Amino acid sequence: MFLPTVVSLLLLSASATVRATPCVAFDINWNLLAFGLDGKDWDAGTQDTWTGSGKATDITASGRPPFDGANTTCYLSQYTNAIYVLNGDSKSPSNVYIYDATAKSWSTQEVTTGSFNPSSFDAILDHDTNVFYALSSGTMFSLDMGLLKAANSTPLSWTSDEQAPYPSGYQPVMALAQNHVHFLDVPGVVAGSADIFVIHYSYYQPQPQAYPLPDGSAFPATYGQATSFFQESGVQQEFAFIPQDSSAVYVINVETNTTQALAGPTTKDPKATYFAGITSLIQLTSSGAVSFLPYLEGNTSTNSAATWSPVSILASAAPPSASNSASPSGTQSGAGSSSTGSSSGSGSGNSNGALSSSMVHLGSVLTAVLGAAAYML
Ligand SMILES: *[C@@H]1O[C@H](CO)[C@@H](O)[C@H](O)[C@H]1NC(C)=O
Ligand SMILES: *[C@@H]1O[C@H](CO)[C@@H](O)[C@H](O)[C@H]1NC(C)=O
Ligand SMILES: *[C@@H]1O[C@H](CO)[C@@H](O)[C@H](O)[C@H]1NC(C)=O
Repeated sequence: MFLPTVVSLLLLSASATVRATPCVAFDINWNLLAFGLDGKDWDAGTQDTWTGSGKATDITASGRPPFDGANTTCYLSQYTNAIYVLNGDSKSPSNVYIYDATAKSWSTQEVTTGSFNPSSFDAILDHDTNVFYALSSGTMFSLDMGLLKAANSTPLSWTSDEQAPYPSGYQPVMALAQNHVHFLDVPGVVAGSADIFVIHYSYYQPQPQAYPLPDGSAFPATYGQATSFFQESGVQQEFAFIPQDSSAVYVINVETNTTQALAGPTTKDPKATYFAGITSLIQLTSSGAVSFLPYLEGNTSTNSAATWSPVSILASAAPPSASNSASPSGTQSGAGSSSTGSSSGSGSGNSNGALSSSMVHLGSVLTAVLGAAAYML
C-alpha cells in the first residue's frame, strides 16, 4: 500500500528534476543572464564583474518558464533586446517564452508546430530577419518572430520550408554567420568544411566551404555545439564550434574563411551548452557550472593564450552542486549538503528545474525502492 505511493512520489520528483535544463544568454548590453540556475534567473553583469566579489542579481520574475524541458535553448534577438526560450516548459514544448531584457518581464508566445518536432531539432535565430531556422527530421522549418519582445495574442507558426539536401539521420550542428546557416558534421563533408544555406535566397550552396586552420589542419568532422559571436551591431561573422569531446574550441571566421583553435573548456562535458557574446564564449555544464573563455575578435595571439575561468559570481549565487540539473548518472560525489531529509521538497513549488542535492539523493533512493518493488512483485 505504502510502497506504490512512495514510488510514484519519487518518480514524480525524479522526472521533475532529471529534465531540468538551465540556459545562458546575453542581453544587448552584454550582461550575462543565466536562467533556471538553482531554480532562479540571474544577471551576472558584464564580463569585468564575473570573477569579482560582487553578486549576481536575482532577476527571477513571474511568467517565466519552469526550465524543465529536456533541451532548453535560449537565443538573443539583438534588435529587440529579447531572449527567446525554446523548450523551456516540458508541458508546453511548442511555446516560445520571451524575456524582454529591457523591461525584465516575461510573456508566453503560443506557437503552432505543424509537422515541426519540438523535441528534435537544432536552430539558429537569424540576426537580420529575427526568423528562426531549424532543421528537424531532415526538413528546414522557419518561425518568424517579427520584432516581438512580448508575446502576440495570435499564435505564430513553424513553417515547413523544404527538405534539406542532407542524409537522413543527420543530427544537425548549426551556426549563423553573414546571413548564412553553416551546417557542420554533415555526412560526407570533409573535416574543416561546412555546408551552407543562404538564408535570403533559401539556397543550399552545392559545394561545402573550407575553413582551414593556419597550419593547414582542420576542425574535426564530429558532432558538437556551435554558437555565433555577436558584433556590437550587425550580423555575426564568426562562430565557435566545440566538438563533443571538448578537446578544443574552433572559431570559424566566414569573412576570411579561416579557423582558429583555442583552448578547450576545462570541464569536458558532452552535455554542456554554449553561448557567445562579443568578447567571450560561455560554457554551461550539465551540473549548472558556468565558465567563460575571453575572446578578442581578430587578436590571434591574445586568443590563443586565453584560458577558461569560472563565472564565480554565478557559482556563489547558485552553487553548481545545488543546481545540478543533469548530473549524467546522478552519482555526484559527496558534495551533497546535509539537508537531505526534506523529501517533501518536491512540493515546494520548484517545478522550475532546481535539482537540489537532496533530489540527487532521492534519485538513488528511487533506484533502491524500485529495486525493492521489483523484488516484491
Ligand atoms: C534532447 O536532445 C537530445 C540530443 O539532441 C535528443 O536525443 C533527445 O531526444 C532530446 N530530447 C527531448 C525530449 O527533446
Ligand atoms: C569565403 O567563403 C564564402 C562562402 O563560400 C565566399 O563567398 C567568399 O568569397 C570567401 N571569401 C574569401 C575571402 O575567400
Ligand atoms: C591584442 O590584445 C593585446 C592585449 O589587449 C594588445 O596589447 C594587442 O595590441 C592586441 N593586438 C592586436 C593585433 O590587436
